[in-house]
Amino acid sequence: MHASHTSGEPGGPYDALVVGGGVIGLVTAWRAARRGLRTAVADPAPGGGAAEVAAGMLAAVTELHYGEQTLLALNLASARRYPEFVAELEEASGQDVGYRACGTLAVAFDPDDRAQLRELHDFQRRLGLESHWLTGRECRRLEPMLAPGVRGGLRVDGDHQVDPRRLTAALLTACERAGVVFHRARAERLTRTADRATGVELADGTRLTAGRTVLAAGSLSGRLAGVPPEALPPVRPVKGQVLRLRVPPAYAPFLSRTVRAQVRGGHVYLVPRESGELVVGATSEELGWDTTVTAGGVYELLRDAHELVPGITELPLVETRAGLRPGSPDNAPLLGPSALPGLLMATGHYRNGVLLTPVTGDVMAEVLTSGELPEEARPFSPRRFPATRTDVPPATPVPQEQPV
Ligand code: GLY
Repeated sequence: MHASHTSGEPGGPYDALVVGGGVIGLVTAWRAARRGLRTAVADPAPGGGAAEVAAGMLAAVTELHYGEQTLLALNLASARRYPEFVAELEEASGQDVGYRACGTLAVAFDPDDRAQLRELHDFQRRLGLESHWLTGRECRRLEPMLAPGVRGGLRVDGDHQVDPRRLTAALLTACERAGVVFHRARAERLTRTADRATGVELADGTRLTAGRTVLAAGSLSGRLAGVPPEALPPVRPVKGQVLRLRVPPAYAPFLSRTVRAQVRGGHVYLVPRESGELVVGATSEELGWDTTVTAGGVYELLRDAHELVPGITELPLVETRAGLRPGSPDNAPLLGPSALPGLLMATGHYRNGVLLTPVTGDVMAEVLTSGELPEEARPFSPRRFPATRTDVPPATPVPQEQPV
């Protein structure tokens, strides 16, 4: 159903109130409104959050880790939905989201990196995933800007990319067109009766009431006051520093697909956009809510990227940013009802928020309308974690651009 209504009262009552207007909050709100739910989002600056910094790799296969096969199934399900999701979103918003079915090349430099990449390849094949081993020469034939030292690589034709900034902007427009109400203020506290969540109180004192409240505030999801300990999501911020370079038209095509590498044990990726933007990422740092861009972080990224593609030193460096991934104890998201009736989670997406956007929207819209968590999302119930809060760093001042 295409809803065009708004709630009669500015404070609700809403059917669904989403706390956090990053990519996950927005897709949840858009999908819920399309199902006919009166939906609102609370966020001082919707459209921000980790996706503003993210590279947008849809890397279900090349970012596979041992022990994460359950998450792999969800990642693949979401990757499969991307083309249709993008078509629907572009139609709803009238905006291009920069989806590019270009594939990924993962390469190795020294013998240890090569051995690890070989192991990853074996693991991928045991799981029936499509991934082709290439010699160094074959890698350079595909991507002539690669350094001569590349010793081999994996060509994964199904790992694509999207532009997360465009994706978020399109979701914002689609939400507005679907009648989602935006409250541009910070959610201060969850309100509840003895046994049920009833909405939130905003920083300006406004009370919003809702049948269901969805906590989708990324790395800050564990910090909303008023959530009982048994329902608090165990998410923590994992800092990632990311660079943006520009490929002048005279240098194009610099790279034709995403290139990622192990460089002496460390990881680096280069994501080329059709617009000429080249994203280089990312560090992974457990430093609380610190979003400082450091000389060390930039140095490591440029050093490893230069080793991979020496020509990058010719390109203008146009932006350096740090974002906060919402990490969870098992690196997988928390989706669906929490231990407190009326409070649901859509958070903890860690490295895969952009990839998991389509499936998260579908899952959350389904559980919000029917009350049932779809089969594919059941392993990701927030209730899989015990109510212990030892993994959240102590409170520090919240940066302005973070969504709650
Ligand atoms: N998925 C890429 C990253 O988290 O850096």
